Amino acid sequence: MGAMSTKVLRPDELEQAAELLAQGQVVAFPTETVYGLGANALDRQAVARIFAAKGRPQDNPLIVHCTGVEQVEKLVREIPEEARLLMERFWPGPLTLVLEKTEAVPEQVTAGLDTVAVRVPDHPVALALLQQVPFPLAAPSANLSGRPSPTKAEHVLQDLGGRIPAVVDGGATGWGVESTVLDCTASPFRVLRPGGVTVEELLQLVAVDWQPLSKGGEPPRSPGMKYAHYAPEAEVFLVSGPGAAAKIKELSEAFLGKGQQVGVMTWEERAGLYPKLTVLSMGRQGDLPGLASKLYQLLRAADELGLKALFVEAVSEERLGLAIMNRLRKAAKGREIRT
Ligand code: TXA
Ligand code: MG
Repeated sequence: MGAMSTKVLRPDELEQAAELLAQGQVVAFPTETVYGLGANALDRQAVARIFAAKGRPQDNPLIVHCTGVEQVEKLVREIPEEARLLMERFWPGPLTLVLEKTEAVPEQVTAGLDTVAVRVPDHPVALALLQQVPFPLAAPSANLSGRPSPTKAEHVLQDLGGRIPAVVDGGATGWGVESTVLDCTASPFRVLRPGGVTVEELLQLVAVDWQPLSKGGEPPRSPGMKYAHYAPEAEVFLVSGPGAAAKIKELSEAFLGKGQQVGVMTWEERAGLYPKLTVLSMGRQGDLPGLASKLYQLLRAADELGLKALFVEAVSEERLGLAIMNRLRKAAKGREIRT
């Protein structure tokens, strides 16, 4: 791979994307969360191309994107009543449900699990593309494995340019963090990955268990959770508590002393606290949707700026903050400092 030239298609050129998909090729496309790298979910060779293009570990299963509940019904054994309630309330939208799979779903999609993750994306381009092909689309985020997810077509090209035949450019995605993954085979339902639909919203309809599984306990139910993710080249430090600014200034001295560039991700209103650091603004203080929409762009910017270290101020874990902090913890790979 590598020599292929990647076509950038406009949303009015979806026919070309649909044709590539029908031929068993992969195509990147926008969803309301992040860009996905799609392939025919019912074609094991097409699915294998997703893993090859991303460099994705074979044991990390994919989300299957569908036009609606009717298409989902062919892929899953049964839909519990409470899962149906969630579909009615949140689809199309950033909620992925894990259900028991039927024979229709190849094991390449689910990495050998007997469950399949399904969702209906809330994006006009994604929905139009799904309607133009007679099969559902398996699609992980369209980044190289381990990198921040792409929220613009240009991020897809940075990672996968030359490795995939086409990307549909639908502009910047809306949410910026991925869908919430909810295991509906557990009782109560369990959040495997916090995302666009918040725990608070889920709890209004059904009981859910959302505390992260304790380390060293059960094996991870969502294989993807065990991999490093969202990580820029820079060393990321996640710093929380009232002493965060003082701690960040203290720790940054070691890097600055060696002449290295140090960044800080902080709310706009706090930027003035860090005169010696390169500020990556998180936007207006407390605006969690605003921060979610630029989170991965900021992590990518850390690399473009050549930062050696990136200090990130922790945010509240309420609502979308839970998904944001989950991604930041992965980017920080355990470098979390509480003050
Ligand atoms: O918003 C999103 O969900 C985006 C867009 C493109 O739809 N997709 C996405 O896919 O984030 P990906 O592959 O980057 O993340 C899928 C997550 C992984 O953590 C994976 O382990 C988990 O879903 N997953 C998939 N199938 C599963 C299953 N059968 N059981 C448990 N976890 C599963
Ligand atoms: Mg991903």
